[in-house]
Amino acid sequence: MKERLKHIEEEFKKDLGNVQLVQDFEDIKIKYLGRKSLLSQLFAKIPDLAKEEKGIWGKKLNLFKNKITSLLEERIKESTILGKEKNFDVTFPSADLKKGSRHILSKVSEQICYIFEKLGFSVVEGNEIEDEWHNFAALNIPLEHPSRDVFDTFYLDIPKGVGGKFLLRSHTSPSQIRIMQKVKPPLAVISPGRVYRPDQADATHSFMFYQIEGFAVSEEINFSHLKGILLHFARELFSDDVKLRFRPHFFPFTEPSAEVDVSCIICDGKSKSDTGKKCSVCKGKGWLEILGCGMIHPNVLVSCGIDQKRYKGFAFGMGVDRIAMLKYGIDDIRLFYENDIRFLEQFPI
Ligand code: DAH
Repeated sequence: MKERLKHIEEEFKKDLGNVQLVQDFEDIKIKYLGRKSLLSQLFAKIPDLAKEEKGIWGKKLNLFKNKITSLLEERIKESTILGKEKNFDVTFPSADLKKGSRHILSKVSEQICYIFEKLGFSVVEGNEIEDEWHNFAALNIPLEHPSRDVFDTFYLDIPKGVGGKFLLRSHTSPSQIRIMQKVKPPLAVISPGRVYRPDQADATHSFMFYQIEGFAVSEEINFSHLKGILLHFARELFSDDVKLRFRPHFFPFTEPSAEVDVSCIICDGKSKSDTGKKCSVCKGKGWLEILGCGMIHPNVLVSCGIDQKRYKGFAFGMGVDRIAMLKYGIDDIRLFYENDIRFLEQFPI
C-alpha cells in the first residue's frame, strides 16, 4: 500500500509537470481522482485490511486525495494556458467592438476631390502656414483690404520673411500661387485643406474650417468651361436634377467673378416644405450658396510669372463644412469639431 501510494504521488507530480494543454488537466483529474482512478483502487482495498490498519489508511488516503486535489487546483490557477485556451470559444459572439470610421468632413472633402479627379484635375495640398505675399498680394488683394486685418487673419508672432509676415492661411487660394509658380500651364488642380480665421465660434462659424480650391489654366479656357464643370460637380455631389445660379460678385483674384447657388436640395427650389411651410434649409429662398468663382485675374497670372496674354484660367473656392452641412442637413458647424461619438457614428463609411 505504502509503495503504491508513493508511486502514485511520483507519477502524479510528473504528469502535472508535463501539462501542455487544458485537456491534460482534465486527464490528470480522471486518472488520479476519478471513479476508476488509481487512488480509488487503493480506497477499494481498505475493507480487506486488518481492523487497526483500516482507520490509519482511510485517513492517509483521504489526506493524500486532498493534497493532490489542491496541488492540481494550484497548478490550474497558475497556468497561463487556461486564459488562452479554456475561455476561448470560437463560436461565442464577440464583444460589441466599436469600429472607427473616417470623419464626415474627410469623407465629403474626398468625395468632392474625387469628382474633379475624374475630370482630370490633380489633387495638390498647399501650406497651412503662409506669408502675406502668397495669401494676399499675389492674389491681387490690396494692402488696405479688410481681410488683411488682425481681426480677420491669424498672424504668427515670428520674424518676417521675404513674403512679409507669416500667418495661418485664411483661405486655400494661395495654393493657386504656389502651384502656378512651380508648374507651367496647362494646369487643372484641386487643393483641399484647413484654413483659419479669428471668428467667434457659433452655429455657422469656426476659427478653423475646411476649404477646397480648384483652378485650371490653359490657352483655351473661358467662363463656359467653368460653368460646365461646376454644373457637373453639383450634379455628381447632390443630385442629377439640381440647377445652378451664377450671381455676379466681386473677388480681387478673379474677374469677372460670381457666387454660385444650387437649387435647394431639400425643397427642390420650391422654397416650401411638404407641409406648405417655408423650407428650413434655404429659408424659403429656393437657393443655397455653395461657392465663389471666376476667371483668374491677369494680375494673379503675372504674379506667378505666367504670360497673361497667352493664358487664361478659371478658379473656384468652396467651404467643405458648409457643403457637408447642406448635404446632410446639419445645422451647427461646431458638431464637426466636438468629436462627440454620437454625432460622428451617424456617418459610417
Ligand atoms: N478664397 C475665397 C474665400 O475664401 C473663395 C474663392 C472665391 C476662391 C472665388 C476662388 C474664387 O478661387 O475664384 O472666400
